[in-house]
Amino acid sequence: MRMHVMDAPATLVAAMDAAIEAPVPPKVSVSEPTSSATSSVDVAGERTAADSKKPPLLSIEDVSVTFGGFHAISHVSTTVGENEIRFFIGPNGAGKTTILDAICGKNHVSDGRIVFKGRYDLARMKDYKIANLGVSRKFQAPSVFPGITILENMELAAANRHSLYSTTFLNLKPEQRDYIRYILDFVGLYDMRFDYPTRLSHGQKQWLEIGMLLTQRPELLLLDEPVAGMSRRETEHTAELLQRIKRECSVIVVEHDMQFAKDVSDDVTVFHEGKVLAEGTMDEVSKNQTVIDVYLGRGGDA
Ligand SMILES: Nc1ncnc2c1ncn2[C@@H]1O[C@H](COP(=O)(O)OP(=O)(O)OP(=O)(O)O)[C@@H](O)[C@H]1O
Ligand SMILES: [Mg+2]
Repeated sequence: MRMHVMDAPATLVAAMDAAIEAPVPPKVSVSEPTSSATSSVDVAGERTAADSKKPPLLSIEDVSVTFGGFHAISHVSTTVGENEIRFFIGPNGAGKTTILDAICGKNHVSDGRIVFKGRYDLARMKDYKIANLGVSRKFQAPSVFPGITILENMELAAANRHSLYSTTFLNLKPEQRDYIRYILDFVGLYDMRFDYPTRLSHGQKQWLEIGMLLTQRPELLLLDEPVAGMSRRETEHTAELLQRIKRECSVIVVEHDMQFAKDVSDDVTVFHEGKVLAEGTMDEVSKNQTVIDVYLGRGGDA
């Protein structure tokens, strides 16, 4: 099957949709609505005319993260829309990974709210519940299992399993298996599906991981330095994949590769010392003298 995931015919799209009903609990059951006392959105569904505009997919509101007494993130606010690719850029130690970890529930948020779909405060939720809502995080270190095949890695991910307990009892539906094939083709690994991940190049391993995340049909994908260590050709292929993934979900990418950011981003948020320094298109922030002084002029190559 040589079919491209984002250009699939209607029948396959229907199969994909069927596959989404997937291994996660019903979304409503994991709901931890935001507190109506502090919220401008009403979780009971009583929106005023002024609130009728669709909320952004993600709204980071005055968020701070501290480690001991150290303020890694201080009063950060930004919003990410549907089908947007946002880049978080900035010098080492600026807080980019810390904010990704806060969004996916890995870091404790000491202040502020992270509102998903106008309804869920991720800052008050456990990481597994956030994942079940459709927020998928790719870490810098690879998280594929080297001792099982590429296909089996995809199957484990589709079944939402994170251990090697057994790949024989996964009980995936035919639609889910179709969808796995479809994603494998999309990331260019279908012909290697029976190989072990150790056969893959660095770039291919990253694409496998992205494919594993896609099996969960995320609404928000969080990628930390996805093209670090990739060749320029692999980076360009990753850019193409992200442009197509964007049709189905939003993506936040942390990156130091400024050409990649320029090619792929809708908007970028520039972090510096735990705060937002600037936000706009890559062209706009590239002209910002403070951004040039603290980052782009010192090694960023936009
Ligand atoms: N678990 C932790 N405990 C203590 N300090 C931490 C922890 N995690 C991050 N920090 C500190 O918080 C600050 C922000 O780190 P973070 O990893 O978010 O930076 P970054 O922007 O991702 O940098 P890089 O581009 O180098 O990956 C740094 O000073 C870092 O040392
Ligand atoms: Mg980082």
